[in-house]
Amino acid sequence: MHVLSVISHPKPDAFTYAVLERFQAGAASAGHTNETADLYAEGFDPLMTARDMERFNDVAMIPELQAEQARVEQCDALCMIFPIWWFGMPAMMKGWLDRVWSAGWAYACKHDPKGSLLKPRPCTMLIPVGASAEMEAEWGCLERLDHIYRVGVMGYCGTDPINIHFLLDAAFEKGQHAAHLETAYEAGQTIF
Ligand SMILES: Cc1cc2nc3c(=O)[nH]c(=O)nc-3n(C[C@H](O)[C@H](O)[C@H](O)COP(=O)(O)O)c2cc1C
Repeated sequence: MHVLSVISHPKPDAFTYAVLERFQAGAASAGHTNETADLYAEGFDPLMTARDMERFNDVAMIPELQAEQARVEQCDALCMIFPIWWFGMPAMMKGWLDRVWSAGWAYACKHDPKGSLLKPRPCTMLIPVGASAEMEAEWGCLERLDHIYRVGVMGYCGTDPINIHFLLDAAFEKGQHAAHLETAYEAGQTIF
């Protein structure tokens, strides 16, 4: 099986890249092939344009976005790896979803939350979070984010099953890193 990992981080030496490396090592150990969509390194432009929105009028998308869609179509499973920024996904990752996962390709443009047009494929999200478990218990944000990503974003776009791992204390408590990297490895091994 072929696994596409999409990563959004500006610094190649960031912990988020270590998570990618362990995820792909786990997938490889299970016999899968890996491909990386490194949005920053590839210079993906996340800004949605008026031209992109012509998609809603059935105008074909620009070749750059069609190439991104082809990568998704060719994979059997998807992994998205990004840090939490302002209790959401970084603008780069959000822009990739805005522009690539378009009406008429990812979902039907009608009021049907289950109206995905793509074949179901597993999706794993590995999300480093700066906050500790104690902070999260007080704020209660990740449960809501889980719902948004599971129902409003990836579920809407046909991925199934969806496995979301929030990797807490990723910025300040380096002691958690080893456990998170093991989680990433296991997520790669068990993506199917
Ligand atoms: C712009 C920005 C916003 C952030 N916002 C949050 C946040 O809302 N909640 C949180 O827990 N951590 C937040 N963080 C911390 C990151 O999630 C943390 O640095 C990251 O998970 C660690 O992985 P990295 O070393 O690969 O960047 C933020 C970091 C940045 C740079």
